[in-house]
Amino acid sequence: MTAPMADGFARALAAAVKAPSPHNTQPWRFEVRGSRIDVLLDPERVLPVSDPGARQARLACGAAAFNLVTTLRGEGRRVSVRFLPGPRRLVTVEVLGRHEPAEAERRLAAAVHARHTNRRPFQDRPVPERARSALVAAARDGGADLHLLDRGARYDAVAALVRRAERLQETDERYLGETRRWTGRPRGETSGVPAAAAGPPASPAPALALREFAGSQDLPAREYEQQPLLGVVTTRHPGQDTRAGFAVERVLLTATVHGLSASFLSQPFEVPGPRGELAALFRREGEPHTLLRLGFGFTTPGAPRRPADEVTTVVGESGRAEGLHG
Ligand SMILES: Cc1cc2nc3c(=O)[nH]c(=O)nc-3n(C[C@H](O)[C@H](O)[C@H](O)COP(=O)(O)O)c2cc1C
Repeated sequence: MTAPMADGFARALAAAVKAPSPHNTQPWRFEVRGSRIDVLLDPERVLPVSDPGARQARLACGAAAFNLVTTLRGEGRRVSVRFLPGPRRLVTVEVLGRHEPAEAERRLAAAVHARHTNRRPFQDRPVPERARSALVAAARDGGADLHLLDRGARYDAVAALVRRAERLQETDERYLGETRRWTGRPRGETSGVPAAAAGPPASPAPALALREFAGSQDLPAREYEQQPLLGVVTTRHPGQDTRAGFAVERVLLTATVHGLSASFLSQPFEVPGPRGELAALFRREGEPHTLLRLGFGFTTPGAPRRPADEVTTVVGESGRAEGLHG
C-alpha cells in the first residue's frame, strides 16, 4: 500500500467511526487490503436484549460504510460499494480511481463531523418542503425509501406503537439493565451514551415517548414539540439491514446539511409485538428499519468514539495484519 492511499483511508476510517450506533456500541471492525476496505460486524458489541438478531448493529455498520464512501468521494476518489450477505463481512468498498467531487458531495462529507443524535426538544417549526424532498431523495440515492409522516391515521398509529413499546420496555428488567449499562457514561469513556447527550424528561407528555436514558432524570423537565416530523426508512426487500443503514446515514447527513436535527425512536423495533404491527403498517412499501424524529433543534453534545486504529486491521500482501498508517 502506498503512503498517500493509507493517509486517505485514515481520514475515511476516522469518518466511518462517527456513524450512529445503538447506545453508541460501535459494533464494527474494518479490514484494509490494498485499495479495498471491508466493514465487518463485531458480534461482541451486539446488544443481546434489545437487538438479539443484530439488525440494528448491521444498520450501524451500513451507516459506517456510508461515511467511508462519502468521505472517499468527497476527497475525489471513485469508489464501488458491494453489500455482502454476512454474517460478519457486510460491505466491501473499493477505490477504483479518481473523480472530481461535486460541491454537494463535499458538503455531505463535511456533515459527517457535524451530525449528532439530538434527544432534546425541537422547535415547533415545520420542516420546509425543499428539505423534505432532499431527505426523500437521499434515502432513494442510498438504496432505500423514506416515508415522511406529520399527521393522519398512520402517524397516530406509529406514535401509539412507540408509546406501547416504551411502556413494555419500562417494566422489563433485562432491557432496563442493558440501557443502564450503556448510558449515563462518565466523561473519558469511548463507548456508550454520555450523560450529557441525554434529553431532559418531557412535561407535559408529548405525542411520542422519547426514551429516557441514565442522565435524563438529573435535568429539569422541558416541553417537547407536540408533533415532530417522523421518517420511516424502508427497503423493498426483507433482510437489507446494512443497506438500510447506508441510506439512513445519507438521510441524516442530508438533514445536517439542511440545518435539521434528528433522533431515533427504536422502541417499536425492539419489542416483538409492536415490531410486527409496525411491519404490517408498512407492508405495501417493504420492510421498515428505522424510525426517525426530524426537526430544528439547538446544539447538542456528541458522543465519544473509539479511535479508528483500535477497530481497523490492515492486511498486507502476505495476508498478515499490519498497523494502520497515516
Ligand atoms: C440503529 C440505531 C438505533 C438507535 N436507537 C436509538 C434510540 O432508540 N434512542 C436514542 O436516543 N438513540 C438511538 N440511537 C442513537 C445512538 O444512541 C447514537 O447514534 C449514539 O449514541 C452515537 O451518538 P451520535 O449519533 O450523536 O454520534 C440509535 C442509533 C442507531 C444506529
